[in-house]
Amino acid sequence: MRRRILTASIFALTIAAAGCGKKEGSNAPDELEVAGVEHEAVFSAPAETPRDEFTYANYQDVRVTHVDLELTLNFDEKVIDGVATLSLEYLNTNAIKVVLDTNDLDIISVEARDNGDYISAAYRLGQDDPVTGASLEIDLPDQADSVRVTYRTSPTAEGVQWLSPEQTAGKEYPFLFTQFQPLFARTMAPLQDTPAVRMTYTARVNTPPEIIVVMSASQDPDGTRDGEYSFDMPQPIPAYLLAIAAGDFGFKAINEHIGVYAEDYILDASAKEFEDTPLMKEAIDELYGPYLWGRYDMIVLPPSFPFGGMENPRLSFLTPTLVAGDKSLTNVVAHELAHSWSGNLVTNATWQDAWLNEGFTSYVENRVMEKLYGNERAVMERALDLEKLKQDVDDADRPELTSLKMPEDLAHPDDAFTQVSYAGGMFFLKFLEERFGREKFDPFLRGYFDAYAFKSITTEEFLAYFEDNLWTDNPNAVTEAEIRAWVYEPGLPDTIEAPVSDAFDNVSAQQRLWLGGEIDADGLETSAWTTHEWLHFLNSLPDEMFTEQYDDLDETFGLSNSSNAEIAYAWYMKAITGGYEPAFQPLEEFLLRVGRGKFIYRLYQALVENGRAEWGRSVYDRARPGYHPIAQRRIDAIFEG
Ligand code: BES
Ligand code: ZN
Repeated sequence: MRRRILTASIFALTIAAAGCGKKEGSNAPDELEVAGVEHEAVFSAPAETPRDEFTYANYQDVRVTHVDLELTLNFDEKVIDGVATLSLEYLNTNAIKVVLDTNDLDIISVEARDNGDYISAAYRLGQDDPVTGASLEIDLPDQADSVRVTYRTSPTAEGVQWLSPEQTAGKEYPFLFTQFQPLFARTMAPLQDTPAVRMTYTARVNTPPEIIVVMSASQDPDGTRDGEYSFDMPQPIPAYLLAIAAGDFGFKAINEHIGVYAEDYILDASAKEFEDTPLMKEAIDELYGPYLWGRYDMIVLPPSFPFGGMENPRLSFLTPTLVAGDKSLTNVVAHELAHSWSGNLVTNATWQDAWLNEGFTSYVENRVMEKLYGNERAVMERALDLEKLKQDVDDADRPELTSLKMPEDLAHPDDAFTQVSYAGGMFFLKFLEERFGREKFDPFLRGYFDAYAFKSITTEEFLAYFEDNLWTDNPNAVTEAEIRAWVYEPGLPDTIEAPVSDAFDNVSAQQRLWLGGEIDADGLETSAWTTHEWLHFLNSLPDEMFTEQYDDLDETFGLSNSSNAEIAYAWYMKAITGGYEPAFQPLEEFLLRVGRGKFIYRLYQALVENGRAEWGRSVYDRARPGYHPIAQRRIDAIFEG
């Protein structure tokens, strides 16, 4: 039973008495307003976890505990033929049906196991919704313990990208990779596609014999290529962490337990770039307890991969734009690896709680960077994050999207994945770390990962755990109002601590000299600048400058042709706002080559906002066939919007 915190409870009672428990724009659940005698503690999780609004699954009654997948990859038709066998657990003993999620699937037959034999089962496919797809309701005779669905995916499945041989670096074989977070697993198989449900999985995948297949599961990196592959994921995971990649790629070990898969052209460079991954893993192990997933491998995907990275268990998916040659962008590896604790072990129960995944992960990521490369780099990375966070808070469509707990009526789960969840969550944990001290905060987080390992939880459960395991014993470290401001109230809280970077201050000072015309670009002392200093320099330039100024920078530093994707992107953004013509040709090549959403969504958006919609459209028309379906949807909306 939780103890009562005197000061905080008085605070709660005062609010209740004043009848103003919930401030406008606050995403606090109603339960928290009911302060009073029956309330033991300030933060308590509602008795029943709220439903994930983006699933049709009746997971509160019947739950899928294991899925066995038999998949045949058909590269010619761009479809997967699948048989999914789902094991069921009954939470409601009166349940007579199971409801699954589907999207763009052709259901061929449905069976349920009755007394050991599969017999045809009655089913209904619901109406199609553009975001959530269609429900698949299956009648369950005699509480069948398993159902089997035979189906075929669609060539337009949003979670699957099929690349022709020409779209790969090797040009000889096709490539396929999936991206299921947040709700696209249902475009590959009928599942309970919600982070609230965890299941184990096994899979057998058939391909043409030259193609190698990997999944987010146990596999043999030295296995032979024979067109038949088996996988086993014995730890329960939410559907969004299922993943497949198939194509012509090699493997290079970094150590006995860690390695990289990549197309030949980038395999050695990737292994070199990511050679510190074992140290990253050690750093997290030490802080938060052992890595529980067996091997940790990475795969460097073709450049159309729409994210920097995706934390598929045992096998992070990464964009090739991380391979900069100087390890300057490997915080993304630290991030995806950190998800093995925050996100994959402890998972947000709904996308409203996305910050539990991304904010915690960004925090751990930054701790790793500090441990491996020193405080200055960690501070610079946080400072860059704060710049982006402020931008996202300013750009938010409505105030409810600027608190850590996201509103119940999200239009799409993607809307929860802004810098508010990432950097906002990280800065909140930094605030707690500061107030409680690392000696208390570190063991607290370790205990949290332990307590909720392989569970899906809500913000309210975290707060209750925090109250019980850290706050109660240190009641003066923070106030309830401070916590609420971070978690439930819109905007940046007063208690956010802006990182102070001497390196960035020096960059700013030099920038002032250059902008004031006191020095030319070749007078800037940039020889020791890291990527981070360059990014600070570029991001903080005015949106519009004289052509001579752009020329001076570009001719001195070759920014339009930078091989570092982050630097090139930051420069193109300024080139677009200021209409700097010479950058447009390289920008076009960048847009045709790189499909990473973080870059291309903002570049197209900036083109539209700066009177270049027509030019942007013409580039997009050519680039679109090479983009991932997720990116196509997002950019279509930019041009339609
Ligand atoms: N889990 C995310 C990617 C994601 C988020 C996919 C939302 C689908 C929906 C991944 O861990 C991530 O955050 N990637 C970042 C890198 C990170 C260092 C901020 C990215 O892709 O840029
Ligand atoms: Zn992440």
